[in-house]
Amino acid sequence: MILVTGAAGKTGQAVLKALQKKNAKIRALVRNGEQAELLMNYGIADAVTGDMSSQEVLKEALTGVSSVYHICPNMHPAEELIGQLIISTSREKKVEKFVFHSVLHPQTAKMPHHWQKLKVEEALFESGLSFTILQPAPYMQNILAFKDVIINEGVYRVPYPPQTRMSLLDLEDLGEAVATVLTGSGHDNATYEIVGTDPLTQEEIASCIGKRLNKEIRVEEAPLTQWRLQAKELDMDTYQLETLSSMFEYYANYGLVGNNKVLEMLLGRSPGSLDEFIKREFK
Ligand SMILES: NC(=O)c1ccc[n+]([C@@H]2O[C@H](COP(=O)([O-])OP(=O)(O)OC[C@H]3O[C@@H](n4cnc5c(N)ncnc54)[C@H](OP(=O)(O)O)[C@@H]3O)[C@@H](O)[C@H]2O)c1
Repeated sequence: MILVTGAAGKTGQAVLKALQKKNAKIRALVRNGEQAELLMNYGIADAVTGDMSSQEVLKEALTGVSSVYHICPNMHPAEELIGQLIISTSREKKVEKFVFHSVLHPQTAKMPHHWQKLKVEEALFESGLSFTILQPAPYMQNILAFKDVIINEGVYRVPYPPQTRMSLLDLEDLGEAVATVLTGSGHDNATYEIVGTDPLTQEEIASCIGKRLNKEIRVEEAPLTQWRLQAKELDMDTYQLETLSSMFEYYANYGLVGNNKVLEMLLGRSPGSLDEFIKREFK
């Protein structure tokens, strides 16, 4: 049995979809019954509901499990603590394989959610568990949050400059790579950078979307102060607000770029391009 945490989120669902194709026996850890119900569509064997930061919930979820794919909820302030708890409980429950959903360049102290993932990686090194660490690049799917504005206003509005360079990743490729690592062998003690594209500027991203939509898409930098005001209006909590602000500032200064050779090795083919993603998702 494979336990997938954070299973109802966008990463979790991509992973479940790929594991289903491998006929894997899956348990999902989700927040509530409604999410568990939704995931029945992915053929999961069972679900455990509750708060991932509770040791009791983790004990229940890890009972009878041979492998774990741990996805911490996005921008969770207790990411490091949750990581330590699931690692120690996995040891207690004699889990054979622990695969951790980290992030590209966790070594960046300027981004708190990256740094927390680095500390979880360190805890894994010290755990004695057999582990694999996956470090995914920013998802192409993040662009979908701006889809309506892109289509209706012809603007791709991001809180960093148009020249900011980022390597992107299609979640469908991530799911496939995760399923390969979880159901295959030979990935023990590996740390894999999971990257789909060469570095792309925001202008190149907008141009790629524009070509598919057959119209000009302009990149516009939304000032961070304006983004923060809007986020506050949406009642975003302080940790999320500050962490996202730090991330946007980091992107503006340094971008976030990686190399796709490892993903190509795991998939046995070239990773999906941004153009293929846009063709699929902007129909
Ligand atoms: N987005 C990217 O480009 C990217 C790239 C690399 C790595 N990552 C990492 O990927 C991870 C997952 O991101 P995501 O966007 O897939 O997350 P997500 O869509 O926000 O999903 C998180 C899931 O966890 C649930 N959850 C939240 N708090 C919980 C708790 N205390 N106990 C149990 N379940 C809880 C959420 O339920 P509710 O909906 O009820 O809150 C949701 O179903 C994050 O660690 C992120 O840093 C993201």
